[in-house]
Amino acid sequence: MLRHPIKASLPRSIDVVLRRGVHDLVTFANRPPVVRYGPEGRSSISGHCATVFGCSGFLGRYVVSKLAKSGSNVVVPYRDDYKIRHLRVSGDLGGVVQMEWELRSEQQIAECLRHSDIVYNLVGLDYETKNYKWNEVHVEGAARIARIARENNVSRFVQVSHLNASPDSKSQYYKAKYAGEKAVLSEFPDAVIVRPSAMYGHEDRFLNQLGYWYRTFKFNGEQTKVRPVHVLDVAEILYRIMDMPELPPSPINLPGPTTYTHEQLLDLARRITDNSYSGLAVPKSIALLLSRIAQYALWWPNMSPDEIERRCLDDVDVPGDWDIFGVQPTELDDVAIAYMRRFRNATKIEYNSAVETAKAKHKRQSYYSEAQ
Ligand SMILES: NC(=O)c1ccc[n+]([C@@H]2O[C@H](COP(=O)([O-])OP(=O)(O)OC[C@H]3O[C@@H](n4cnc5c(N)ncnc54)[C@H](OP(=O)(O)O)[C@@H]3O)[C@@H](O)[C@H]2O)c1
Repeated sequence: MLRHPIKASLPRSIDVVLRRGVHDLVTFANRPPVVRYGPEGRSSISGHCATVFGCSGFLGRYVVSKLAKSGSNVVVPYRDDYKIRHLRVSGDLGGVVQMEWELRSEQQIAECLRHSDIVYNLVGLDYETKNYKWNEVHVEGAARIARIARENNVSRFVQVSHLNASPDSKSQYYKAKYAGEKAVLSEFPDAVIVRPSAMYGHEDRFLNQLGYWYRTFKFNGEQTKVRPVHVLDVAEILYRIMDMPELPPSPINLPGPTTYTHEQLLDLARRITDNSYSGLAVPKSIALLLSRIAQYALWWPNMSPDEIERRCLDDVDVPGDWDIFGVQPTELDDVAIAYMRRFRNATKIEYNSAVETAKAKHKRQSYYSEAQ
């Protein structure tokens, strides 16, 4: 973009001052205002300091990347530093600060968040372990972080829950997520609760499972309804909460734009990967029994009884709150190929869409039938 000749001759600092507007200032009731400085993006200063608990997870990497690229200081608490090595380069040198932490240590939590004006809690556990049960992580742990954040004058607290969080759910995971929301709100009444549905992206446990397990068990006649959401859209919402002048109404529901049955998802996977999907329909009671036995017999994480329950529960039918943020959620059909292409046979890897793959397949089939 061409710049005005007079402006171009001014030193960069004056230029920045000239362009500073009201939107560059975020005021908080209990902290000094946050002033943005410099052009947008890397090597600028957003004025914010954010702590992202659960930064080493799937969603965490995208949230940290967006925050750090906007010129914010980001504290990344870790248990295993190998899991956050990739985050160090998300921002400028010194912009991403690593600190070791443990969920049960109040002192370490306080050290991680005491300079921050916003705290994100992305800590979550898909399956229970010997060391941590859902209640300890999703409820007690979340409440502990929220309380320490309030005691340290943190202005904003964002708790990531789940679209299906409910006190009456058959899934203990969804129940714990709901109890976690309540516990956080009792400690930090202004906390923003964000409820995404199942997220997909490069490191997800959704499309990757679909692509990898093309011989699989089928539950609920493959008729369970899901509303998958793109992880980058959720990360964008979490990022935008930081700079909003007013807190958005909570909870924020973030389902994907389209509802799919598992059968439709398998069909999508079949079209993209060109693998033939087959599955064994297992009655839920037998699947639950087998999975309970597997929990004791095997020592690696495998499908838990609660996961089977979740596979049989429809995503709740609530409207998404995307409009509040001006974000248009991504359609799974448009981007799934980027994530599932790697499950294709190497001879078909180059096609860019399901339509191209189908055309190539048709061409190949007609070639062979003509040759015979
Ligand atoms: N993925 C989805 O489809 C989905 C959908 C809706 C809602 N959510 C929620 O969104 C949040 C982020 O999801 P995600 O997929 O990014 O999760 P994830 O990949 O499983 O990451 C979980 C994070 O929580 C941390 N963590 C787990 N247990 C911990 C403990 N006892 N002490 C300290 N840290 C602990 C992990 O740290 P370590 O790396 O050190 O283990 C990791 O950083 C979670 O709250 C999840 O419940 C996820």
